Amino acid sequence: MKLLNLGFLASHGGSNMQAIIDKAKSGSLAANLCAVISNNSNSGALEKANAEGIAAYHVSEKQFPGKVSEKIIEIFEKQGVDTIVLAGYMKILDKSVIEHFKGRVLNIHPALLPKFGGQGMYGMNVHKAVIEAGESVSGATIHLVDSEYDRGRILAQKEVPVLLDDTAETLAQRVLQAEHLLYSETLQKIAIGEIAI
Ligand code: GRF
Repeated sequence: MKLLNLGFLASHGGSNMQAIIDKAKSGSLAANLCAVISNNSNSGALEKANAEGIAAYHVSEKQFPGKVSEKIIEIFEKQGVDTIVLAGYMKILDKSVIEHFKGRVLNIHPALLPKFGGQGMYGMNVHKAVIEAGESVSGATIHLVDSEYDRGRILAQKEVPVLLDDTAETLAQRVLQAEHLLYSETLQKIAIGEIAI
């Protein structure tokens, strides 16, 4: 088993990040929580990181024009990060970061990729599209990030049913519950070598 040294990138509430933190603290995930970076100074993710005593940074284009990627690499290196966890990060990660942490950048997507991925497929758009397509099953996907968005190797998926009376909102909630379980389960499998990255 190899302890993962996690660095998070998150833009919003950070509920996926929190679920991972909780598992690591309870001992069911072999991970150090090294740092959290957000592009949004008001994000729940930064608030949660501060409350947990995890090194938290606001890094945006406004503060560091043209240097966001450099800054992300610098912070994660300084904090000993070896695995990047994207958890609702709404910015496209530059190739330089992906190359620097090659094969060690993970993302979660709230649908069963390769379906319902790609351009414009984020947030509620995903769940609306699933419902409009008449799917009976949706779910969550953990995948590696390479330079093509939502196209990296799929590491794990968890299905959830789409119910007849679902709205995008009710489906999003059910998928989010699955995301919370799937992310830490997948990270633990990486830590114990059951999934190779
Ligand atoms: C999740 O639905 C995730 O799949 C998507 O963004 C959302 C983040 O939610 N990439 P949270 O910030 O973890 O609560």
